[in-house]
Amino acid sequence: MAYCVKKSQMNSIKSRIKILLLKLRLFHVNVKRLDAWTYLGQYTILKTDKTSCIYLNEHISINNYVSLFAEDHADIILGKRVYIGDYTTIRASRTKVEIGSNTMLAQGVQLISTNHAFSNRHQLIHEQDIDTLKIGIKIGNDCWLGAGSIVLPGVTIGDGAVIGAHAVVTKNIPEYAIAVGNPAKVIKFRN
Ligand SMILES: CC(C)(COP(=O)(O)OP(=O)(O)OC[C@H]1O[C@@H](n2cnc3c(N)ncnc32)[C@H](O)[C@@H]1OP(=O)(O)O)[C@@H](O)C(=O)NCCC(=O)NCCS
Repeated sequence: MAYCVKKSQMNSIKSRIKILLLKLRLFHVNVKRLDAWTYLGQYTILKTDKTSCIYLNEHISINNYVSLFAEDHADIILGKRVYIGDYTTIRASRTKVEIGSNTMLAQGVQLISTNHAFSNRHQLIHEQDIDTLKIGIKIGNDCWLGAGSIVLPGVTIGDGAVIGAHAVVTKNIPEYAIAVGNPAKVIKFRN
């Protein structure tokens, strides 16, 4: 298991990282508070393989029952003061999921960053590769994703955008847009 924190933070938080690594290896991150800059709720799992990293910035809140999985040369990068609500799942496989600073994910959000390829009907889907055209997720700074919203592979959400509860985001969302529904459509923009 690899677990990465940006190099620039290493000096100031070295000892905390050691504690964090220890807790993470137990795989049931039953930690109330690591220190002032990061909060990990109960039963939250951060898991990677040796080729992947989860980058935590300062003052992040990751609440209860959250799963962050990065595998097969993947990165999950959380900016400063990112908030992640209960039961949210973020998965990255062979790609990058990036969440900008001050962005909030409400409860039960799902960031799904990879599709199976399935175009060849004569081959089992699980034997086909991943879809390399629609891959990865980028969410800007100061966004708010409502409860139960789902973001599909290849999507970029611009800075300041708001995604309604239970929206399914299949296409890019421009900066400061408010998008709702399945598939998510822009209904207005923030002033
Ligand atoms: C997206 C959202 C922020 C918009 O709020 P708003 O600007 O006050 O929007 P309005 O209530 O004026 O709704 C505008 C239109 O969008 C529709 N709409 C609003 N939210 C919607 C949603 N989540 N899904 C589908 N349609 C939605 C409304 O029905 C309305 O449609 P109409 O014009 O046909 O009547 C809000 O509706 C929402 O989904 N909030 C998420 C709440 C949440 O998840 N909280 C978690 C706690 S952190």
